[in-house]
Amino acid sequence: MTSHLQDKKILLAVTGGIAAYKAAELVRQFVKAGASVKVVMTKTAESFIPAKTMAILSKQPVLTDASRLASANVEHVAWARWADAIVVAPATANTIAKVANGLADNVLTETLLASTADTKVLAPAMNDQMLANPATIRNLKQVQEDGWQIVEPATGFLAEGYEAKGRLANLERIVEATALALSDQSIQQSEKNDMNGDLPLKGRRLVITAGGTKEPIDPVRYLTNRSSGKMGYALAEAALAAGAQVTLVAATKRPYSPGIDRILAPSAKEMLAAVTEAMKTADAFIGAAAVSDYALAKPFEQKVKKISPDEHLTLDLVQNPDILKTVGQAKRPGQVVVGFAAETENLLPNAEKKLASKKADMIVANDVTAPEAGFDKDSNLVTLLQPKQAAITVGPASKLTVAKAIIDQLVTLLDKQ
Ligand SMILES: Cc1cc2nc3c(=O)[nH]c(=O)nc-3n(C[C@H](O)[C@H](O)[C@H](O)COP(=O)(O)O)c2cc1C
Repeated sequence: MTSHLQDKKILLAVTGGIAAYKAAELVRQFVKAGASVKVVMTKTAESFIPAKTMAILSKQPVLTDASRLASANVEHVAWARWADAIVVAPATANTIAKVANGLADNVLTETLLASTADTKVLAPAMNDQMLANPATIRNLKQVQEDGWQIVEPATGFLAEGYEAKGRLANLERIVEATALALSDQSIQQSEKNDMNGDLPLKGRRLVITAGGTKEPIDPVRYLTNRSSGKMGYALAEAALAAGAQVTLVAATKRPYSPGIDRILAPSAKEMLAAVTEAMKTADAFIGAAAVSDYALAKPFEQKVKKISPDEHLTLDLVQNPDILKTVGQAKRPGQVVVGFAAETENLLPNAEKKLASKKADMIVANDVTAPEAGFDKDSNLVTLLQPKQAAITVGPASKLTVAKAIIDQLVTLLDKQ
């Protein structure tokens, strides 16, 4: 995946947190992956790591408030234009707040504001209390909405001397996230370049499900699973880029493109109702949601209170409707049905069984225990199974790349109908 960094121009923005010293190693990792790196630093960052170290490692002059004042050129705009990707690491609470509000009061924030790079990655690192502050949570949500990809801080030993969430993510994760974001960008660019040609799903209606369903226990609690919805949302984006009219029935909320018709359906029953309605006019169904197999027979009407310590609380679970099977059985001639099989063992035999029992045209088999695949990851590794056809392996690659491969197969399946 880091091959996507070859010959790419990365602008590394370093802000003034205790993790700033790790930015030196980050430069080395980007350079090792074939990228050119330029560094811009805040004044506070310079108090943690000298600009000279960054200049030597990047083999480029470093942009600082002092160097900018000494120069007659408008360096920050030129550097902002130069970059294919901007990576802020570590990102302090202070700089995140500025980015969220469009402030430009130093050379680093001016550069970020002047940037038109499509790939923007931000790796926060701070004390756990700063991270949990509602203002930081609000600011991180805002920057995410503005198109920044956040590399979540890790839990570990903080500089304050205790274990908590707030450490800068592993450098490999930051490099990987940047590579993934750059590869997604190149796909979206090639789709845009394709706009003049015939879009393969033009005039087709697709129904896609996403996320882990939430089955209510009582008014404040629910049963769910580890699915983030990233794969389903990526499929919706890939289908939209291929020209389809997309209805995304989602159990989890994530950002999505305006052209997608998203319907929120948290529980399996709500999801089935929305899917059944949407399938009346659809050409194809992709069931990427992790639908809970069980739900409470009768959710409690009021919040369940604690009982005495030696008493057990038993939840009476009943099977949920099987959405993929229901759609497969109700399939009209010409409709195509694709399901996902997330397995932790016997991946291919279980997926083969699912292909037959659900009357699906294709199963996307997904070993959720693989390190580069599965729930809440940005990448995936899948095997596409179709009746009487050789299996196709896709990945490890970004979920958008995998989604595009699935959509390409769906186009072939629809064309065969
Ligand atoms: C020793 C020390 C460590 C700090 N570590 C962090 C940190 O890890 N994360 C953070 O958000 N702020 C941290 N701060 C606070 C920032 O340095 C401060 O908010 C500063 O204004 C950030 O400036 P900048 O965002 O322009 O680089 C630290 C401050 C000190 C004195």
